[in-house]
Amino acid sequence: MPVTAGVRNSPYDLGMTAAVQDQPGAGRGAAPVVRNVCGMDTTVYAPGSSSPAVRARSLTKTYGKGEATVRALDGVDVDFEQGRFTAIMGPSGSGKSTLMHLLAGLDSATSGQAFLGSTEITGLNDKALTRLRRDRVGFVFQQFNLLPMFTAEQNITLPVELAGGTADKAWFDTLVDTLGLAGRLTHRPGELSGGQQQRVAIARALIAQPDVVFADEPTGNLDSRSGAEVLSFLRRSVRELGRTIIMVTHDPSAAAYADRAVLIADGRIAGDISDPTPESAMAGLDALRTLEPSVATAPGTGV
Ligand SMILES: Nc1ncnc2c1ncn2[C@@H]1O[C@H](COP(=O)(O)OP(=O)(O)O)[C@@H](O)[C@H]1O
Ligand SMILES: [Mg+2]
Repeated sequence: MPVTAGVRNSPYDLGMTAAVQDQPGAGRGAAPVVRNVCGMDTTVYAPGSSSPAVRARSLTKTYGKGEATVRALDGVDVDFEQGRFTAIMGPSGSGKSTLMHLLAGLDSATSGQAFLGSTEITGLNDKALTRLRRDRVGFVFQQFNLLPMFTAEQNITLPVELAGGTADKAWFDTLVDTLGLAGRLTHRPGELSGGQQQRVAIARALIAQPDVVFADEPTGNLDSRSGAEVLSFLRRSVRELGRTIIMVTHDPSAAAYADRAVLIADGRIAGDISDPTPESAMAGLDALRTLEPSVATAPGTGV
């Protein structure tokens, strides 16, 4: 079972294999989820729609116990709009990945609430979380996490097939076109550049038309030119395809591709920038260093 083994062993294991028998759509409670896997649904994903795609309320995460307790997230309240490209920006160790993992149902909160649409993620059991990740969330990671033995096309369609479905042809073609992957579909990851691999990973994250795509430092392993290209494609996915993307980054020039940058420092929301530019995003990060003593360079540490 190489497919199962490969997926299970990769960080892209979203419980898809374990959840194949689950009833699609079951267990969503009262969530008014309207999904159209046969084509783009402009009603649900219309930009500027008033109900947020994702929300956090007093969201807190601590690691460890006693003296060794790390408060990675400290009472975060934030909304992320549908149909927008939002960056979560902050220094290394500020809690960006922790926030993303909690919002995406990849890790559990210590206290507080996280919502995807009207579904309270923090109230779901493991089985429901697995289903939510499979059906309603897409992921893009720094390391691409493609399966090396499969072609680009197979990597893109795999999540849908593992969930027991078939990728919608028209949507697949739209993604391939938007992400500039035509002519690369029969290549294996090893035959693709880093930027191309990440574009395949973005197509894979979007193929099931998730409510939201989370990207954690998606350009962290790319040279600046490929990184700029990937960021442009993420932006196109939002502007032209109506997707909702939340991207974690420590890089002000990456954040400048987003419609909004939410600043985080020491596990707390520390700022919010509309239409960030590299300059305003950089200024935002610099301001954190002045305002937050524990983020600023500690004397004598040399860092
Ligand atoms: N699994 C873990 N166990 C203990 N501490 C952790 C764990 N994950 C993250 N942390 C700590 O929580 C804080 C926030 O980490 P993280 O969310 O990864 O920050 P960022 O993504 O902004 O670099 C850091 O101090 C980090 O060391
Ligand atoms: Mg991180």
